[in-house]
Amino acid sequence: MRNYYIAGNWKMHKTRAEAAELAKALAAQLKDGKHKYLVAPSFTALETVGAIIKGANIRLGAQNMAAEEMGAHTGEVSVLQLKDLGVQTVILGHSERRHVYKEDDALINRKVKLALKHGLEVILCIGELLEEREAGKAEQICETQTVKGLEGVAATDLANIVIAYEPVWAIGTGKTATPEDADAIHAYVRKVIGKLYGAAEAEKIIIQYGGSVKPENASLLMAKENIDGALVGGAALKPETFVPIAKFA
Ligand code: PGA
Repeated sequence: MRNYYIAGNWKMHKTRAEAAELAKALAAQLKDGKHKYLVAPSFTALETVGAIIKGANIRLGAQNMAAEEMGAHTGEVSVLQLKDLGVQTVILGHSERRHVYKEDDALINRKVKLALKHGLEVILCIGELLEEREAGKAEQICETQTVKGLEGVAATDLANIVIAYEPVWAIGTGKTATPEDADAIHAYVRKVIGKLYGAAEAEKIIIQYGGSVKPENASLLMAKENIDGALVGGAALKPETFVPIAKFA
């Protein structure tokens, strides 16, 4: 039985004071929540938010991480620095990293392995562009991103991997994949994990859906057999929209 995992990606939003206000509201309102929760504020607010959710049932996540441990990498943030702030999880391969900042599968794979080496949980994002979907390539793209993202990852590390399927055309656009379309890709990705690691691991792995998740569509998505949670962007910025998703019925 897989537990639902609802994560909020705050992207490049919120000053420390604003992040603190949201974190306080979530800590209070999710106290009796039954699922696994995470918030991923900007690097600048990690320490502030970490102090507020300490001891609460909400994990602290970062939105990205360098592929190197330390050194001459101007503008990057290392796994050691994240761990120093109490970060437990890192989101890697988000579509904005892939398509705006041109991160490729090989770079993402190095980050995945480095994060795992240091004991962080990884949310590995995958997903196709609209033109790839229209060309009938959605499964193929998701398979490639999964296989390459996990290259060299041992089965013993799989417990620290979460996959987030985020069709790029559904992110921040208000267009959600239908629960049926999303579930079909989730089922396919689960099969890919099965091919790589065996059926038992495939059955266990958490696959979140992301892309315009809202209070109105959360329960319909979560009702699908292969959808085990959500990675929420826009709707994660306010307790009024994140809490109903996190407590979907
Ligand atoms: P969205 O973003 O919910 O605003 O579509 C999701 C994401 O990018 O993780």
